Amino acid sequence: MGIDIGSSSVKVVIGEYDGQTISFGGSGIASTKGVKKGKITNLEEVVRGVKEAYTKAKRVAGISPELTFVAISGMYGKSIYSRGIVNLPEREIHLREINRAIKNAVYNARIPQDSQILHAIPYQFQVDNMEGIYDPIGMGGNRLEVDVHIVLIEKSALENVKRIFKQAGIPVAGIVLSPFASGLGVLTQEEREQGSAILDVGYTTTNIGIFYNKNLVAFDKFGVGSHHITKDIAEVAQIPIKEAEKIKKNFNALLKHTKISVKSNTIPPEPQEVSVRTIATALVMRMKEMFLIYRKLLAKTPFRKYISTIAITGGFAKFPSIDKIAKLFFPKQVVRVGIARQIQNFSSSGGESELSVAVGAMVYGVGREILYELDHDNRFRGKHNPLSGIGPEEDVPLPPKREEKRRERVKQPQTTSTQSTERKKEILDFRDLSRRQGRQEDGVWKKFLNMLNNLF
Ligand SMILES: Nc1ncnc2c1ncn2[C@@H]1O[C@H](COP(=O)(O)OP(=O)(O)OP(=O)(O)O)[C@@H](O)[C@H]1O
Ligand SMILES: [Mg+2]
Repeated sequence: MGIDIGSSSVKVVIGEYDGQTISFGGSGIASTKGVKKGKITNLEEVVRGVKEAYTKAKRVAGISPELTFVAISGMYGKSIYSRGIVNLPEREIHLREINRAIKNAVYNARIPQDSQILHAIPYQFQVDNMEGIYDPIGMGGNRLEVDVHIVLIEKSALENVKRIFKQAGIPVAGIVLSPFASGLGVLTQEEREQGSAILDVGYTTTNIGIFYNKNLVAFDKFGVGSHHITKDIAEVAQIPIKEAEKIKKNFNALLKHTKISVKSNTIPPEPQEVSVRTIATALVMRMKEMFLIYRKLLAKTPFRKYISTIAITGGFAKFPSIDKIAKLFFPKQVVRVGIARQIQNFSSSGGESELSVAVGAMVYGVGREILYELDHDNRFRGKHNPLSGIGPEEDVPLPPKREEKRRERVKQPQTTSTQSTERKKEILDFRDLSRRQGRQEDGVWKKFLNMLNNLF
């Protein structure tokens, strides 16, 4: 079972794992008011939400999950990078040596007092002088070096999550950072290998995960989500939030009209006419601002040059033509909507983009998609030991030797994911883009792009 504690709702997804694949069993969603911008502010409220979503999902799935993996918002997290080195007296690399090398990187890292390690993810290895190795298992040499992405989390946030599940009576098998989970749920192995970004745009937050070499190499966060668009519409049209939410979700249908009739936010509410253009202006302005910030955040990561695919997920991904809108800001990348496809029967059962994190938490829990990591309990886990962590000094049989695919070495980032490197700010030419795209699109989209032209 995977659980995502979001700012608007708790999502639970239950699946069955047969040792090869995970099959979707059912999901449950419960609204909650106990989370503000990804941060838990009311424990009791979240406990109630967790119990409700869990009961709903269990009823749909008809099974009681054995293991629970919980996603924690990236809003609590921070990246640091470290390097570990170990000698190889036996001249051969087993899991034990990899485990030691990652632990050495953790030992070398400076962890602030109020933080704890959530994940230590090795993203490239070096054996003697051979750099850019994805997986050194079975290789021989004198020295193993590893670059590790360490995901830190606020201690208090982790304690709160543990407390919530204790109170809800649900034992937790593992905890995962939400953009790590959504990336595992949504991005294909190839996308994670080539380099890609997941943008999880939720209620009041955006969580960004960057993957390269199949690993989470960086992440970022931003305290704006789809609800800010609703609020802007409500404000500009002077209408209640509920009405603005409906308008946002049916925005494409709206474009056929110049004026619409909505209830005012007066008491008692009265029907009033609002110009579509006024609403569209507010919506487009907010979206433009959001995407320019996403672009800036992606531009500052040292891994930017590897990002070839951008997948948008979370509730906002359901906005009509969101992939086409995003493409205006990321013309060089493949842009797509991200539904969690890494489990069977999910999309055919009406899988929604809001569930990507919860599905991904399950994929994380199974462990097959992760090469190696140290988790929040310092357990060394990954695809060689799916579902459970092996003890720090234990070892398991070696997988068959194989040819190692070498890559260009990635320079270890010296910065945390929140520090920036400068990049030229490009101003988008909507006119030109819309002319090019408009030819291929349907009437509604053309109208939307025309509207963008008039606005900017
Ligand atoms: N068709 C749509 N177009 C735009 N936004 C939508 C659409 N459908 C749902 N949403 C928005 O998605 C948001 C909820 O998304 P989600 O469930 O991913 O958020 P969350 O996980 O609870 O919050 P967060 O990730 O910020 O902590 C709401 O603001 C809702 O308005
Ligand atoms: Mg969310």
